[in-house]
This record gives sequence, structure tokens and C-alpha cells, in this order.
Amino acid sequence: NEGNALVVVANRLPVDFTVDDAGEISWKRSPGGLVSALEPVMQQADGAWVGWNGSPDLYADPFEADGMTLVPVTLNADEIEQYYEGFSNDTLWPLYHDVIAPPAFHRQWWDAYRRVNRRFAEAAAVQVATGGTVWVHDYQLQLVPSMLRELRPDVRIGFFDHIPFPPYEIFAQLPWRRQVIEGLLGADLIGFQRNGDAANFLRTVRRLTRHSTRGQVIAFEDKTGRAVREVRASAFPISIDSQGFDALARREDVVARAEQIREELGKPDIIMLGVDRLDYTKGIRHRIKAYGELLHDGRLGVEETTLVQVASPSRENVGAYQELRDQVETAVGRINGDYGELGHAAIHYLHHSYPPEEMAALYRASDVVLVTSLRDGMNLVAKEYIAARSDDRGALVLSEFTGAADELNGALLVNPHDIDELKDVIERAARLTPEEQRKRMRRLRRKVMTDDVAKWSRTFLETLEAMPVVPVAPEL
Ligand code: G6P
Repeated sequence: NEGNALVVVANRLPVDFTVDDAGEISWKRSPGGLVSALEPVMQQADGAWVGWNGSPDLYADPFEADGMTLVPVTLNADEIEQYYEGFSNDTLWPLYHDVIAPPAFHRQWWDAYRRVNRRFAEAAAVQVATGGTVWVHDYQLQLVPSMLRELRPDVRIGFFDHIPFPPYEIFAQLPWRRQVIEGLLGADLIGFQRNGDAANFLRTVRRLTRHSTRGQVIAFEDKTGRAVREVRASAFPISIDSQGFDALARREDVVARAEQIREELGKPDIIMLGVDRLDYTKGIRHRIKAYGELLHDGRLGVEETTLVQVASPSRENVGAYQELRDQVETAVGRINGDYGELGHAAIHYLHHSYPPEEMAALYRASDVVLVTSLRDGMNLVAKEYIAARSDDRGALVLSEFTGAADELNGALLVNPHDIDELKDVIERAARLTPEEQRKRMRRLRRKVMTDDVAKWSRTFLETLEAMPVVPVAPEL
């Protein structure tokens, strides 16, 4: 057939759609790390990207953009509520992030999740060429691999989990735990951020299925015990377009904007920065609490330092996110009221999202970046900050509960639950000498500039292509 040799399936398309008053649909490219990583591969392999267009009831035919085919999947308002806001972001998201918030289990949401996963699987099955490759992304689409395998046993299927995979004891709460594992096992290769995530998954497979595992390989056997299929589960830590970000942060206008930001903030000695989606996994409250206490104790003062917290709006229809917003805004208001002075806000809180140029300028303007997630698959803010610091300056405070902590030697690691330790580490980061900053930042940059997202996708796809193709036995 004439399909695409490589098909990416992700919840979101890498473009934003707008509908004007006349009902005319137009789209604009959304700058994600994933799309910039995959673009060269997609162009070369005649790739297609299957994903949701982000709005309810928006129908659009497949179209060409930047050398790939974009295939929009339509969701109606109920499906957005039950599949996206419900099962994906109010069941799986909190469950996979160590139940920081309580996951909600609703049978109707599960039905919608299955229904929508089937729609994505069908769209991919139509799109992919004979013997082609399909790469499925993230927790919203865990049933797609096995659904797709049934429709298209001829294709190679990869799956990458961008978020943590929880320990069995937590995963086991999910009423549909077996179906989810069986959904994933339709893939030939299942990628995770950390070795720990792959280990959690492999242990879960041993607990919930009859399959045996040898190292990172799960064996499927027929009735006679003959191995008929293999599935590999390994870590492929994701990264960013390091060169691209480095180049952006060196741009003259960006460097000038960084200087302007320092001036607008009143040229404090130490600018601290937090950048997150407004999400309860990010430890924003812990960070603000520690910062407030440092001001209270007089260990930091509002004339010498300020905290800029960018909290971009996210999943605003989900209750836990609404509660978090109230809590964060109350805490910020209180700290600014207690410790701020005219012309010296303790915290600059920005509930916006910004284009990459502005982020690069913010990173370059900041002396300390605070990444205090309670649980985080990888955390790309940490890597962006490092890529932006070609001047070898700045310090990174990094939660040990991020995937990035496994990789980033040179960060100041912290347990964000331990407020006293968090205060000590933030203060230490603020007082690092330029010499110490340079030493650490050079180490960090060696890692991030080498292991970029292009290497990540290449490694994943090469590992997938190298998997043995074993004919599927009929009794499976
Ligand atoms: C995380 C997930 C992604 C998701 C992103 C933004 O990084 O791993 O799959 O796209 O958050 O969340 P949203 O719900 O707006 O897509």
C-alpha cells in the first residue's frame, strides 16, 4: 500500500488550530521539543503524525505541513471530559505520579478511554505503509499498541512513556490494570525515562501476567513453551533540541532582553526562577514555602533577591488543578504582603506561557533555577536552563524525584518534601561563587549538549528496528 513508512501517534498534534468567525480553520505550528526532534526523521521517512487538534468537534482532513502528513483525530466535548480531563488527567496522571493527588476511578471514563484509543489506533492503521513503523506516545494512548497490532500485525510498534511508571503497589490500585498492561504489551519496544520506570513496569508484568522476563525482555510463549514474540522494556531518557536552544539563548536580541529583564526586576543580586505548568506534581507550593521561610528567617532579603515564578495554565477544567491554583495564589499573595516592599516584590508570579525566546532570556537572566518536582518523568526545564547557559553561569536546584536527577551531575539535588533541606540548598545555590557555578555548569553542559533529543529519537527508533520480527502465532 501507499501509506507512510513512519507514523507517530500522540494525544496532541504539533500544531494549534484556530477557527475564525466564518468557521474557517487555520493552524499554526506549536513549538514542541518532540516535533523538532522528529521533524528530520519524519521528512526523511515520509512520516505522518496522528493526534487530537485540541478543540471539541473540530473535523479536518489530513494535510501536509513541514514535509509530513498531519492526521487530525476528532474528539467531542464528552470525550474531552471523560478521556482527556477524566481518565488521562484525573486517573492516570495522579496514579502514575505517586498518588500526590488522589486518582479518581470512574467506569464511564474508562469506556471513553478505550473508545478514543481505538479511534487513534484505527487512524494509525489506515495511515501506515506495509511493514512500516508506528511510534505511540504517552499515557493517554496505552491501549493503542495492542489495538493496532490486531489491525496491522505487519507493522513494528514502539511506545514511549513520557511520565513515570509507578511501583506495582500503586499501579495495582487501577481497576483496569490488566487491560492497560496488555495494551502496552502490543508494542515491540516500550521506552521509559528512567531505569527505575522500566523496572517498575517489568515487575508489574511479572505480577499481573503469565509472561516471564529475561532482563529487559518479556517473552511471549505458545502453549508448547516456544517463544513466539519478544517485547523489550528499556530506558531512553528524553532530551531537548540542545543546539537549537543554545543558539537561541546566544542571539543578540535574547541576550539584550535578558539584561532588560534584570533591569525591570530592579537589578537584584540574585534572581531565582521557577518555570512549570501549573501542576501539583511540580512542588511549586513547597518551593514557595521554603522561599517565604528564608525571607522570614532573614537568610534572604527582598532587596538582594526575587523569585520569578512562571506557572503556565494547564488542564484548567480538572478540579485538582483549580485547587492548586488557589493555594499557590494565596501563598504568593501572603508572602508578597508579609515581606514585599515598594519596588521589591518577594515573588513575581506569572500565570502565562511565553514563547521560547522569552524563556531563553529568562533563563539567561536568572542566577538560580528551582526544579522541585515531587515526581517528574524527566523535567525538560532543567535541561533548557543548562542549554541556555553558554556563559557557564547559574545554578540548578533539582529535585531527586525527577528523571533528570539520574542524569544531571552538577545540579544541587534536594528532597523537596524536606523544607529545611530545601531552604539550605536554595541558600547554598544563591551563594555559589562564580567559580563553583562554572565548574558545575560545565559538567551539566557536557551532558546536555551531547545527549540531545535527536539522539534520543534515533536511539529509540534504531532499537525498535533491530527488534527481531517473530511471526505472530495464531493461538495468540
Ligand atoms: C506532559 C505529558 C504530555 C502532555 C504535556 C502537556 O508533558 O507527558 O503528554 O502533552 O504534559 O499537557 P496537556 O494535557 O496540555 O497535553
